[in-house]
Parts: sequence; C-alpha cells; structure tokens
Amino acid sequence: MDPLPHPPVRVERRAVDEEESRRANGPDWDRYADEYQATHGEFLGDAGFVWGPEGLTEAVAGVLGPVDGRDVLEVGSGAGQCSRWVADQGGRAVGLDLSHRQLQHSRRLDESTGIAVPSVLATATHLPFRDDAFDVVFSSFGALQFVADIERCVAEVRRVLRPRGRFAFSITHPTRWMFPDDPDEPGLTASQSYWDRTPYVEIDDETGVVAYVEHHRTLGDWVRLLAHQGFLLIDLVEPQWPEDHDRVWGGWSRTRGLITPGTAIFVADLR
Ligand SMILES: C[S@@+](CC[C@H](N)C(=O)[O-])C[C@H]1O[C@@H](n2cnc3c(N)ncnc32)[C@H](O)[C@@H]1O
Repeated sequence: MDPLPHPPVRVERRAVDEEESRRANGPDWDRYADEYQATHGEFLGDAGFVWGPEGLTEAVAGVLGPVDGRDVLEVGSGAGQCSRWVADQGGRAVGLDLSHRQLQHSRRLDESTGIAVPSVLATATHLPFRDDAFDVVFSSFGALQFVADIERCVAEVRRVLRPRGRFAFSITHPTRWMFPDDPDEPGLTASQSYWDRTPYVEIDDETGVVAYVEHHRTLGDWVRLLAHQGFLLIDLVEPQWPEDHDRVWGGWSRTRGLITPGTAIFVADLR
C-alpha cells in the first residue's frame, strides 16, 4: 500500500465523539506509519520496549511484573516492538491496532526478527477477545489518548483481564497540555488551562473533515476513571529525562524534559 499524502490541516480545540475520533485517527496513522517507523524505529528497537521519548525501558521500569508464561495484550501496538520484547521474555503477546499500515510494519518486523507477534486490526473501545483472556494489558503511547470514549476503553480492558490482572499504560503527561507543543523554550511557558478537556483536533483544510484527534484528561480524571472501573492504582511513574539524552521527538526534548515531565505511566491492578 502506498501511503496517502498528509492533507494540509488547521488546528482547533473542539468536541469530537468516539466515531469521529476513530474515523480520523485510523487513516491518519495509515498515512503517518512509514514516516513514524523510519524516524523512530531505531530508537524503539525492533524487539525493544520503551515507555516513551525519555527512553525508559520496561527492562528497567519493570512495571508489568513477570511476563514469562503470561497472556499479554498490547493496545495500540503499532509495529509491535514492545510486544516482541514481551514475547522474547517468554510472554504470549498479542497486539491490537487501529492502523492497517502500522500492522503491516509489525508483520515486516515479525519476519526480520523471527519473533512473531499475532496482531489484530481493531479499536481499543471494542476488544475482540473473550472475557478473562489476559494476565496483563498494556499500552505504550498507544490508543488511550486517541479515544473519546475512555470509560468504554477501560471497561473493555477490565473485561478481558483476569482477576488481579495488571493494566499499565503510558500517555503524554497531562500537565503537558498546558504548554505549546514546542520542544524549545516557547514550550516551557504555560498558555492554556490544564482543566480544559477540549480535544486537540486537526481539520483537513480542503474538506473540513476531522483528520486527527487527541484527548486530554487530567491526572485526577485518570485516577477517578481507574477507581470507577475497579482498578487499584499502584504506581504513577514519571520518567525523568536522562542528563545525556538529547533526542527530540515532537514536543519532547532535553530542553523541556529536564524541567517538566513529558510522560506519565499509570500502573493499576484489578481488585
Ligand atoms: C504513538 S503510536 C504508539 C505505537 C507503539 N506502542 C509504539 O510505541 O511505537 C500510537 C498507536 O496507537 C494506535 N491507535 C490510535 N487510536 C487507536 C484506537 N482507537 N485503537 C487502537 N489503536 C489505536 C495508532 O494506530 C498507533 O499505532
């Protein structure tokens, strides 16, 4: 499949529902997948597990607990790098992603690494698995900030997890939503309300169609959401930017990273 060109877009903050988010983000990730993998693939590692642009690995963080012999689902798995690391540790990893093109990259890496991750094309709000199917569900900057119906998404995670199963996910640190998405100095001056949950939306300039969406929830929203769905929050990891790490990834950079957190990793267990 040849990737479609990115349309010229304008940025807005406005309400967007689940269907509109999904219809925008699937094709957007299809268009962006080749560039994403070309730009970040080496940093991610074909069978590597990093939680975000700071480079914190699961080997160091250890937030999933032991995965050997466990059934593990990755939501928003992209090219499956994290799941491939899980498989390499002895876990039975399965990937799920909304983007066909991302999953084609996953297949490519299955072949080149010899570590195959079975993956399905689906959305985080409708997990195509039976109840109690997994010991661990995780997402590394995967679907959670892309869905509007986050209650449904977390309810689906609860449904497919076994009792006392673990759910861990990384997202853009909620405090980052106060700042312009700029890796340099201007990205250090707060310019909008932390409490404004209005989604970030890119609109195709020619058609007026929503082309990309990200959703913001505050730290309190996440804690409340997890508690409401029967999870016990056991950690909130805020990876510190390493002194010697100088890689820019979108709005993430050393300039901002040494001062303000860019990533939040929530770790919760089903009660
Ligand atoms: C930033 S990438 C992260 C992928 C991978 N975890 C990584 O570290 O490279 C976000 C991924 O989430 C997927 N995604 C977005 N919305 C989704 C949804 N509603 N359901 C499942 N996956 C979704 C995108 O297609 C994309 O592959």
